[in-house]
Amino acid sequence: MTQTMYISNAAEVITMSGHSEQPATKERMSDIHVIKNGSVWIKDGIIEDVDTDENIRKKYADDIRMAEYIDATGKIVTPGLIDPHTHLVHAGTRENEYAMRLKGKTYMEIMNAGGGIHATTRATKAASHEELYRQTKKRLNQFLLHGVTTVEAKSGYGLSWEDERKQLEVAQQLQNDHPIDIVSTFMGAHAVPFEEKDNPDAFVDRVIYEMLPEVAKKNLAVFNDVFCERGVFTPEQSKRILEAGKEHGLIPKIHADEIEPYGGAEIAAEVGAISAEHLLKASDEGIRKMAEAGVIGVLLPGTAFFLMAEYANARKMIDSGVPVALSTDANPGSSPTISLPFIMNLGCLNMSMTPEEVLTATTINAAHAIKCAHEAGSLEKGKRADVTIWDVPNYLMLSYQYGMNHVDTVIKAGRKLVEGGSLCKDEILSQY
Ligand code: NIG
Ligand code: FE
Repeated sequence: MTQTMYISNAAEVITMSGHSEQPATKERMSDIHVIKNGSVWIKDGIIEDVDTDENIRKKYADDIRMAEYIDATGKIVTPGLIDPHTHLVHAGTRENEYAMRLKGKTYMEIMNAGGGIHATTRATKAASHEELYRQTKKRLNQFLLHGVTTVEAKSGYGLSWEDERKQLEVAQQLQNDHPIDIVSTFMGAHAVPFEEKDNPDAFVDRVIYEMLPEVAKKNLAVFNDVFCERGVFTPEQSKRILEAGKEHGLIPKIHADEIEPYGGAEIAAEVGAISAEHLLKASDEGIRKMAEAGVIGVLLPGTAFFLMAEYANARKMIDSGVPVALSTDANPGSSPTISLPFIMNLGCLNMSMTPEEVLTATTINAAHAIKCAHEAGSLEKGKRADVTIWDVPNYLMLSYQYGMNHVDTVIKAGRKLVEGGSLCKDEILSQY
């Protein structure tokens, strides 16, 4: 039987329409397409129509009585948010390192002494598949409560094939079990294992010859990412790893110029990466090359906030024509948050982005950064009905009030999962 849903009479429906073919750049990042007194008509989990409430009532007059009715009066409706860069699957937390940093130690000092990524790698190796699954599922529910309906998830806390595979398999199982869509990235090259730090090239060889072929054969990831940073992987090693991934059909991404300027943005353009992430210290030349090659800049202002570092130059990137997306970078070391709405606040307040640009950056451009813009990221006929309803009267409120959660309702593929700001009583969601 056909299932219909009628989201009715929102103060504003932010459709983000018209950007599904290409990510939005420059002034097009401000075209968010607002329908006042708007409604969304959903059929079998797919968006059938988005229009003024008056028109929807006329067009579907015969079916309205049978539809699941959601009253959005006085609220706003956006596409479900998309987080295109997370380290979702990991065990444990690192609040001790946070305390050390507050006393003056740096992120890289802690990592070079065997903490940082190495600490989470130890915890993740020690965790069973079931334990990792449990911790990750809890995080996914938190994402949902903050209006997020699709996330990218990186491996990279295993650093051996066995443990990288464990992370990727947990993501794969949750993709099947949990309503949030998870798009996987292999990031075996997140760090050189601490015990092997004097022989990084041997580890790079293992990533290339041992791990990448298995990831591809088992279909465990779409993307291949590398932490290109002084003291982690050099530009040459990063290029080798990304080129090797391409041969196995994995699309390159790169953690670039996060702590120091290191030519990462340039490499992204050279290897034809879909996106370069972080970019706090990206060079002008790197930004120019990214714009020319159409590399999406995935900016993570939560990391600058939490590491108390200078923010990426979002303004320069947008004005130069780089399509920009925003993400939490959710991870236990440099950005322990799942709040994409807070990242929107940071985008405006600390990177001079406009409220319209941050909406584009967390919906359709984020979708492009993980290759799902054909099915998500905007409210348009034919797309999956991933919808967030916010209890605010206009979209400016979203990036104005900060540290608050305005999510009222979340709908994933036409199914209501969050209502009144709480998870719906559902078998899957209330399991933990
Ligand atoms: O994106 N930079 C490398 N990776 C993560 C941090 C991971 C961690 O500290 O656990 C990042 O910032
Ligand atoms: Fe990251």
